Amino acid sequence: MDFLKQIALPQSAGEITVLHFVLNFVYIIFLPFVSYLFGALVLSLYYGRFGRKHSDAYAVNLSKDILEHILPNKSILFLFGVVPYMAIVFAYAQLLQGTTAMSVSLLTWGACIFAAGTVFASSYHAALKLSSVLENVSQKNEEVENVRTEAVETKHTSGKYAVLFLAVSMALFLAGTTHAADPAQWEVVGSVIELLFTLDVVIRLVQFVLLSFTLTALGTLYFTFSWQGGIKNLKSEYTEYLKNKLLTLALVAILLQPIFIALSVLSNPNGGLSGIFFGAAFFGILLLFIIIHFVYGMIKEFNPVYSANAFFLIIFVFLSNSIQDNSALSRATQQQSMMLAYQYDKYHEELLAKMGINLKVVTGSEIFGAKCSACHEFGKKKIGPAYKDVLPKYESDRAKLLSFILSPQKMNPAFPAMPNQGLKPAEADSIAAYIMTMYKQAP
Ligand code: HEC
Repeated sequence: MDFLKQIALPQSAGEITVLHFVLNFVYIIFLPFVSYLFGALVLSLYYGRFGRKHSDAYAVNLSKDILEHILPNKSILFLFGVVPYMAIVFAYAQLLQGTTAMSVSLLTWGACIFAAGTVFASSYHAALKLSSVLENVSQKNEEVENVRTEAVETKHTSGKYAVLFLAVSMALFLAGTTHAADPAQWEVVGSVIELLFTLDVVIRLVQFVLLSFTLTALGTLYFTFSWQGGIKNLKSEYTEYLKNKLLTLALVAILLQPIFIALSVLSNPNGGLSGIFFGAAFFGILLLFIIIHFVYGMIKEFNPVYSANAFFLIIFVFLSNSIQDNSALSRATQQQSMMLAYQYDKYHEELLAKMGINLKVVTGSEIFGAKCSACHEFGKKKIGPAYKDVLPKYESDRAKLLSFILSPQKMNPAFPAMPNQGLKPAEADSIAAYIMTMYKQAP
């Protein structure tokens, strides 16, 4: 699936900024939607099973109601799920082109599995509705009974597959995005399995599940009791049941989260250092404490306004998570982005040259100014290493330096590969002589 990285074009610095902006925006649609969907599917399956086993009509009801708000129709799966996931794949393909990160393959697989998962989810939803309608048919005959049995079977299988596929696709999503934010791992991690079991990824999976349950619980409370004045004509025993189950779930899931946010900050090698990353994590924990306050308030005395507040605040937790993720990503790909922007500029320059606007470069110092100084300085590291750090080893072997300049090889894993500058041998000669003399004077 690496072809995506190959068809991606270099982009200017401005385009990269736009890409990050789009990514942030898409995350804010995608993550809450998928979390709610995942949480609702798991809980719906659980309560459906529990209800049938213990002949608990409320649980069966809850199993249907909990999915109703997130899946009003089928197209929402496509618009809020599949399309954003694909957009994220393309953005990553652009940002990571030319790197060895395996994120883009993981995300591409993830998107395909996700799309399959949404098909199962909508088939589960349809079977759930059908079986609940047939449950209430007053005149039962054999035909009705057959259709009902069939619907129940479809419900079981597609429900299970929906949860499984979404879980796998989100694991790939989290693994892919975590991996992208950590360039030190790009060369090191050899396989998907290895990556899926790194501490970082496991922490984020647990975080995703906890957030899913919180969002589903708070969302269901909000849509049942507050949105458009709340649902009328609910049996009061059922509403008590609903509040009881969902508030307990929300409380437990929220209380566990600050631990995992803290762990994710500690285990993230780049992000831990960045102010935005740290601030967003702090903001997330703060929000969770305010939400607990509202949940606790609802437990003591239920108030629909609290359910609305809690629901909207949890959306902001997602916002802070997205900011955290994207700031880590832009730090990780900063060097890469500079390189892409440089290639973009060079591409333009070559275009100008083809049109007859030529830059005649002769001396070493002019070549340095035109072709090397974008990435190199003598005394300190830029996109490439400082000359004073890498040139001493060529003192005894000038030919090796020439061959590197004419055809750069991958040297140091801490740097991206140097692009070929397309110099003629005579030009390489004069730039080599120039830098070998000058680096000794570097501070
Ligand atoms: C687009 C940025 C870029 C440009 C332009 C560039 N370099 Fe590099 N250069 C790099 C990077 C990145 C590395 C580190 C490569 C590695 O370690 O694999 C590097 C490494 C080097 C090294 C060290 C190789 C070693 O032994 O580790 C030399 C010497 C060098 N460049 C010379 C030049 C010269 C001369 C030019 C101009 C003709 C030039 N570079 C232009 C990015 C660039």
